[in-house]
Amino acid sequence: MEIKKWIKSLDDTEALAKVITENLFPGFILGLTGDLGSGKTTFTKYLAKHMGIQDNLNSPTFTILKIYNNSLDLYHMDVYRLENIGYDYELDDYIYGNGVSVIEWYEYIDSMLPEDKLEINIKVLGEFKRQLVIKGKGRYEQIVKDIDNRYGN
Ligand SMILES: Nc1ncnc2c1ncn2[C@@H]1O[C@H](COP(=O)(O)OP(=O)(O)OP(=O)(O)O)[C@@H](O)[C@H]1O
Ligand SMILES: [Mg+2]
Repeated sequence: MEIKKWIKSLDDTEALAKVITENLFPGFILGLTGDLGSGKTTFTKYLAKHMGIQDNLNSPTFTILKIYNNSLDLYHMDVYRLENIGYDYELDDYIYGNGVSVIEWYEYIDSMLPEDKLEINIKVLGEFKRQLVIKGKGRYEQIVKDIDNRYGN
């Protein structure tokens, strides 16, 4: 299942993140990709906020992984630096763990990831405008439908 959605403001980004937060479960995989500065980390910040995480979420670019302990843990990864490596098996425990994995530039470690996941590709259209292609396989198909129904833009 694949849908297209549009974002016109940070409020829209937050509204979409909130709908996704309401669909999370242990072991959830969300892959984010798209232009540099398209809003992958910003989206993750809103997701963390609606998961009830109080800590300030920063980009994990230089650490690859940041862990936020919570009722449902958040594992925030940015695997940009693995572009020419393709994997980092130390991430396995998290990807196949009980928290929620949000992976920026997930396609760089695609071979390590389960097929069933939620994928969001963000394209910059303007200062605040973005186009999103949202895809889900397996269990995530239902979630894409829920996003389609509940996020109107
Ligand atoms: N609708 C929007 N949604 C998300 N971010 C937006 C939006 N409009 C403007 N922005 C701005 O775009 C920037 C996005 O930066 P962010 O670090 O989230 O991007 P990124 O995709 O994680 O970048 P990188 O590829 O470097 O990891 C922020 O400064 C944010 O305020
Ligand atoms: Mg980022």
